[in-house]
Order: sequence, then structure tokens, then C-alpha cells
Amino acid sequence: MRAVFYETHGDAQVLQVGELDKPACGPEQVLVEVAAAGVNPIDRRLRAGELTEYIQRTFPVVPGFDVSGRIAEVGTAVTDWQVDDEIMGLAFTWSIQHGTYAEFAPVDAAAIAPKPANASFVQAAGIPLVSLTAWQSLLEFGQLGPGKTVLIQAGAGGVGSVAIPMAKLLGAKVYTTASAANADYVKALGADVVIDYQNASYEAAILNAEPEGVDMVLEALLGDGTDEAAIRITKTGGAVAYMNNEPPNMPDIADRNIRAEFIHHRADGDMLAELGALYEQGILSLPQTETLPLESAAEAHLRSESRRTRGKLVLSINDL
Ligand SMILES: NC(=O)c1ccc[n+]([C@@H]2O[C@H](COP(=O)([O-])OP(=O)(O)OC[C@H]3O[C@@H](n4cnc5c(N)ncnc54)[C@H](OP(=O)(O)O)[C@@H]3O)[C@@H](O)[C@H]2O)c1
Repeated sequence: MRAVFYETHGDAQVLQVGELDKPACGPEQVLVEVAAAGVNPIDRRLRAGELTEYIQRTFPVVPGFDVSGRIAEVGTAVTDWQVDDEIMGLAFTWSIQHGTYAEFAPVDAAAIAPKPANASFVQAAGIPLVSLTAWQSLLEFGQLGPGKTVLIQAGAGGVGSVAIPMAKLLGAKVYTTASAANADYVKALGADVVIDYQNASYEAAILNAEPEGVDMVLEALLGDGTDEAAIRITKTGGAVAYMNNEPPNMPDIADRNIRAEFIHHRADGDMLAELGALYEQGILSLPQTETLPLESAAEAHLRSESRRTRGKLVLSINDL
């Protein structure tokens, strides 16, 4: 099968396009004929050799966790899926080898859901990882609801693009950070207040508008003091969901009873199906996608590294 893979860690140039054997389908898995694969920052971070303490590799590694496509094989223990079902899924594992940047990918049956009927395969491939991350952060962890306030960092990115409509659906007032070029984009997603972080301090802007702080921060940034700032702009008793790291060591967290945690997405097919239904009914808007062919995976990783992409990057693989 045609696949993108790497045999050693390194920059985007280690990504090769070539032929690999079709992977086996485990008893509790389905083998997906892949239509499209979502590109996420974690794909390039793993390729670069980061996170080795958490995630094992078996080379050659096919990157990619997000997938959409059609079921080609069903594992012997799988009863609720059939060959030819159109699905989307999150093929995340703590030991990577057979990812989704390929014509076929094995995915745990518990981590897939029906493709929303109104979504193309390309759109569906952009849904799972960011949607599960945002929903698990905002609702499960953040307990966001009517009358609450939230700051969603990097509103124009993959996570932000789905988190903003979700937070609005939950009834919250949404503050978000975006460059001026993306202000209209995040407003159209539903953001109430857009902070142009390149021209103003978001910390000052939040504390000016919400002197006691916001109820929740979805902290998608990394470094430059952002970890600590997230705590300073959170209300007593509020919550900070860190997307990239453990919370900072600040007495303020316990003193002000703030719930601060590194939230890592969980592959949950049932929750993905519930979210898929919200997309299908138009209750949540489908994330904007930018599509590249499989052969341009290195270019996709370079674009992701630029941190200037809007919405989701998706690789188109098979025309199903
Ligand atoms: N824990 C988890 O399970 C999990 C899951 C998914 C993602 N993540 C992490 O969450 C972060 C966001 O992921 P993503 O997929 O949304 O990334 P992404 O799509 O690559 O984010 C790109 C966006 O970031 C914005 N941006 C860049 N620098 C910014 C800044 N200083 N302030 C505000 N916005 C900025 C850019 O908008 P502008 O051009 O407008 O600045 C761009 O639209 C990544 O670090 C990723 O690794 C974690």
C-alpha cells in the first residue's frame, strides 16, 4: 500500500512516500481503507523525536491519528461494525507504528464512529482528535455551562476552531486570542471577544473585562510565561486545561482552589458518535479544512510547524 513513513526522527524531510505492507487487523480492530487523514501538531512532534518518554515507536513509523474512510476488514471480536461502513476515528495509541497517513490503517473499533452524512471524507478526517480534545476539556473537565466565561487560546487553530462553537453551544461567553487576520474567522465561529494578541496583552485584556478572571482557560499555547498567566487570569475555583504540559508549580493554584490539569485526548467512539450527530444536525459547524495530497505530507508538517494554519490540515489519500 502507498504510505508516508519515517525510519528515523528528524525534520519534515525524514518523511518518505513509498510502499509498505498492508497492516494486520487485530481482533478488536477494524482495518480502514483510508480516504483522508487529519494532520495534528502531535504528528510532527513525534516525528521530530519528542515525547519519547510517553509514546513508543516501532520504525518505520506511519504518522497520523485522525482518519476517515471505509471499513475494509473487521476484527474477529468486533460485532457492531461491518465491511463498507463509512467511519471517522481516532487511531491514537501509546505505541506508534501503523498510523493513518496510508491507504490502510488499523483502528480500535471502540475509537470509531459513523461519518456524519453531511461531511465529506476530508471534513470528517478533521473532526476526531480536536473535537474529542475540546469536548473533554470544556465539558468533562471544565464543566462549562450557561453564564460561564472561557478563554480559548489560539482560536483559529484546529482545536480552537471546534472549541469556540462547542463553548457557545454550552452557553459560555467566549474570549479568544487570534491575529488580526483571523479576527473575522473566529468571530464567525461564535467568539464573543477577540483579543489580537500580537497588538495587546491578552492577560491585561481579560483582567480588564473580567476583573475576577474567567471560569476556564483552554491553554493551547506553550512557553513564554503562558502557563503562569493562565492561572493569573482564572477565577478562584475555576479551571485551566493545559493542552501541552503539566500545570506550573504555583502556590496560587491550591490557594485559590483552581483545578489545573494537563488534559490529553481520549479516543472514545461513543463520544465521537455523539459529536458526529451534533455536526450532522448542524448544531456544531464542521471545522474549516485545508487539503493536501498524501505525497505532500512533508509540506503539511512544515505548515503545521509555522503555527499559521487556520482550521484543520487534512491529507487526501483515496478517492472513495
Ligand atoms: N492535549 C491534547 O490532547 C491536545 C490535542 C490537540 C492539540 N493539542 C495541542 O494544542 C495546541 C493547539 O493545537 P491545534 O491543533 O489547534 O494547533 P494548530 O492548528 O497548529 O494552531 C495553529 C493556530 O495557532 C494560532 N497561534 C499561533 N501562535 C499563537 C499565539 N501566540 N497566540 C494565539 N494564537 C496563536 C494561529 O492563529 P493566528 O495566526 O491567528 O495567530 C493558528 O491559527 C498544540 O500545541 C497541540 O499540540 C493538545
